[in-house]
Amino acid sequence: MEFFLDTANIEEIKRINRLGLVDGVTTNPSIIAKEGRDFKEVIKEICSIVDGPVSAEVIGLTVDEMVQEARDIATWASNVVVKIPMTEAGLEAVNILSSEGIKTNVTLIFSVAQGLMAAKAGATYVSPFVGRIDDMGEDGIELIGNLNKTLNNYGLESKIITASVRTIGHLEQAAVAGAHIATIPGALLPKLWSHPLTDIGIQKFLEDWEKVPQKN
Ligand code: E4P
Repeated sequence: MEFFLDTANIEEIKRINRLGLVDGVTTNPSIIAKEGRDFKEVIKEICSIVDGPVSAEVIGLTVDEMVQEARDIATWASNVVVKIPMTEAGLEAVNILSSEGIKTNVTLIFSVAQGLMAAKAGATYVSPFVGRIDDMGEDGIELIGNLNKTLNNYGLESKIITASVRTIGHLEQAAVAGAHIATIPGALLPKLWSHPLTDIGIQKFLEDWEKVPQKN
């Protein structure tokens, strides 16, 4: 499974990148707004740090607006991917952009039908939002498994980015369900590599080490 970081915070990206764990980055307008920086400048900086795909979202809602923005965003860096919302206009834009070789990530996917439509329109990535589905009292992870099976059934090549990841369970279950990628908020990552028994184990080893009479 590939790990993308769901953040535009440069320090967070650099820190996790030092661990060799960043296969890509996703952003959205809310994530960009948190940084209080120029959109283009921050995306270009992220693209220069990370080798993998970096998603930057369009704001326009018409086909023309989306295509125009996407063509511009695609010139910012060779590894930039244009994020397009899951609407009728979004599907038309994805169809045009894929014919031009511009990579897209169709976002705000909440059903198998939406994921299937986006994949057929030519999306490079499709992003189902598991946390927000759980918030509605439904099962976000079930969608990941069903969408993965559906795309495989028809040989569709879009990769599934599990988005709106809130818990360790989301990540583990998305991996089991066959998602290609999970995009993870920076605050969740340390919880993935930590375990209380690891900390207790280290402490016990250090205490026992003190009992060793000769340490060299
Ligand atoms: C990723 O592409 C999404 O923008 C992100 O995961 C949304 O997460 P949220 O539901 O926690 O805002």
